[in-house]
Amino acid sequence: MLSDAVDEVEPHPNSLMIGTGKGGVGKSTIAAQRAAFLAAQGRRTLLVCVTSQDDDDLGLERFGRGLHPEGESVLDGRGLYQSLLERRPLRPVREVRPNLDVVPGGKSVGEILVLLTARMATEGVQVVGALARCLAPIAGWYDEVVFDSAPEQDSLEQLALAATRRLFVPTRSDDTSIRGMERIARNYLLVRKQVNPYLQVVGSCLYGSNPSATSLHEEVRADVTKVLGPNTPMLSTVVGYREMPARNARKKGLTFAEYAAQREHSAKSYDVAAGRAKREDVVPDSIVPLAKEMEQLNLEIDDLCRKAG
Ligand SMILES: Nc1ncnc2c1ncn2[C@@H]1O[C@H](COP(=O)(O)OP(=O)(O)O)[C@@H](O)[C@H]1O
Ligand SMILES: [Mg+2]
Repeated sequence: MLSDAVDEVEPHPNSLMIGTGKGGVGKSTIAAQRAAFLAAQGRRTLLVCVTSQDDDDLGLERFGRGLHPEGESVLDGRGLYQSLLERRPLRPVREVRPNLDVVPGGKSVGEILVLLTARMATEGVQVVGALARCLAPIAGWYDEVVFDSAPEQDSLEQLALAATRRLFVPTRSDDTSIRGMERIARNYLLVRKQVNPYLQVVGSCLYGSNPSATSLHEEVRADVTKVLGPNTPMLSTVVGYREMPARNARKKGLTFAEYAAQREHSAKSYDVAAGRAKREDVVPDSIVPLAKEMEQLNLEIDDLCRKAG
């Protein structure tokens, strides 16, 4: 039953996972927007999507963005799965934006559990270091690594937690989202104790809420510190619930900032009424505050990461 000792890997100094144990909270949105924000500042950034939901916020699949590695497609989580299976370095899609590479998520990520379970017998708890070991050979290419994560399986969440140094936890205000945080808090403690002692929670934010509902924010703050510990910083930025621009941007494979920049040349509602343009050609005004709030969120996360050292 014994096998060669499995190497422990120290996570990248600027690695950040966006995680919470519930779906639909905004993790993938924040992860993609954060990775693009960092890359736009000239930081060489890798986004790793450890989730079987391939949201394609950056248009890799729908718009063929980036330089795809030669050989078998890495889309739909296949590249990630294959690297883990063959214990080989991750093969990102390069230059999805200037300075931004991406390891895409998707359906095949769901198969990782079977792989890890089979290895448990020989590797024990170190099996959750599998992603960290596939990342290590290419981590030096990057200034920043961002992980999107999946709440659908504890083991996937643990895989990402074992590969990151920092964890950021977005939440919505409902009770199930708060309970989702309890799950990530449990996985966080397990991974930190057994596999990745470098791991730390850098903070949390309320996402997709009404920014002016301050008494609600206070209640959520109290819930967050109850679950994640009294010293967990809670960001003052609240990204508002703005369904239309968030949905359109994702459909077009654009970041909020990119979509907001298109507003100037956008068709207007009266063009649609006159039959000169289609509804989807109108960039909604609400993209402007959404892009602004996301930028503020990113600047606040920068601060937290600096403070975390
Ligand atoms: N600020 C926002 N307001 C409204 N809807 C949003 C906002 N940000 C993201 N969304 C939408 O909410 C849904 C869930 O977001 P997503 O980032 O996929 O969550 P998760 O990764 O936690 O499951 C998606 O349809 C996304 O387009
Ligand atoms: Mg997601």
